[in-house]
Amino acid sequence: MHTHETRTIAPATGLRGEIVVPGDKSISHRAIMFASLASGESRVRGLLRGEDCLSTLKAFQAMGIEVVEKGADELIIFGRGLDGLQEPGDVIDCGNSGTTMRLMSGILAAQPFFSVLTGDQYLRKRPMGRVIDPLGQMGARILGRDGNKKAPLAIDGGGLKPTEYHSPVASAQVKSALLLAGMQVEGTTTVYEPHLSRDHSERMLRYFGAEIESFAGGARVTGRVALEGREVEVPGDISSAAFFLVAGLIVPNSELLLKNVGINPTRSGIIDILQQMGGSIELLNQRELSGEPVADLLVKSSDLQGIAIGGELVPRAIDEFPVVSVAAAFADGVTTISDAAELRVKETDRIAAMCDTLGRLGAQIEPLEDGMRVTGGQPVTAGSVNSFGDHRIAMSMAVAALRAEGEILIEDTGCTATSFPNFWELLGDIRS
Ligand code: S3P
Repeated sequence: MHTHETRTIAPATGLRGEIVVPGDKSISHRAIMFASLASGESRVRGLLRGEDCLSTLKAFQAMGIEVVEKGADELIIFGRGLDGLQEPGDVIDCGNSGTTMRLMSGILAAQPFFSVLTGDQYLRKRPMGRVIDPLGQMGARILGRDGNKKAPLAIDGGGLKPTEYHSPVASAQVKSALLLAGMQVEGTTTVYEPHLSRDHSERMLRYFGAEIESFAGGARVTGRVALEGREVEVPGDISSAAFFLVAGLIVPNSELLLKNVGINPTRSGIIDILQQMGGSIELLNQRELSGEPVADLLVKSSDLQGIAIGGELVPRAIDEFPVVSVAAAFADGVTTISDAAELRVKETDRIAAMCDTLGRLGAQIEPLEDGMRVTGGQPVTAGSVNSFGDHRIAMSMAVAALRAEGEILIEDTGCTATSFPNFWELLGDIRS
């Protein structure tokens, strides 16, 4: 559990410098999982050492996977193949991490042993029926609180058959849970989704040697796959870079270079949104790391305009809407976010949280059932807000504070350790 610290952030006159954001959270989880299920040794560099990914790492260590630290930036994971995990001796604590709980549900549903997954007060409120139900269609025996909808989850693993599932939500966690169960059973499992969600599982499973077919409406795997240990280089997290992209745009006299950021098209919606708003963001030095596209991002202060955001752009920027609402508060005109009801079931209800925090400081922001409407140009005043224990709300409000009229006090900021342990340090480093 993180500490309940409070921070006060003052307005900035300009932001300058080069930043290396920490490793991508989604890719880091998958690197740990797939390396553990592969045969032989994997070397992973650039892994995010945030609390969420450490929950995943501890879970696999509790199932007998040996992990060795090599220097400051490399982990060696000794994979034991699909049949190498041991029954954990205790409950697995996923902390705040939805990715750990949902992807592990898929992995563990196919393992021939008993396991229990729990999490913190926030994760235990989030919907798990979205993985329990389709895994149940494969024959999985998973019980949970609230009529099999919430954690803790008790999994009596094994005996699965393949399936074909049409997911009602564009969720990479749902898609991945099914692919990870499906890859362990004989036959073909297919997942269809309404819009393409992030495809890191498909890319990395392929990188580890599995055959996974991606097609317009979903993905397909034929089990049982054989994964081979690999060297993995984790790119910087675009969802972490997003805070500095918006900061660089809204604070006058700013120029920031964000090095080595993942720009996978299923994740790069924030770049499209901010460019459509008139933001100056250049993609430099584009290249590929372990099957994922990366670039350095150069961002310069810009005058922003409001836009309408919806449809396929939403899953491509799903974690960035708190900070998009901050950009919108400092843009001219109205920004509307729709088709984003998923924001209500993230680490917190992010529609309610941003309307509360930004609204309390004078921004004109209204909730919609499936998003929000922000009318830019109202000054954001000094004051105090609460993060609601959500890392991305805390960091978004820190970005808003950089362009506010006075200091903003943010309560409960320790949660930033879930995805971005050195956020406050980097924020201090770039002030000119
Ligand atoms: C993630 C998928 C997304 C995202 C989350 C990480 C993943 O969640 O919001 O932060 O790593 O697969 P959903 O699958 O619920 O959309």
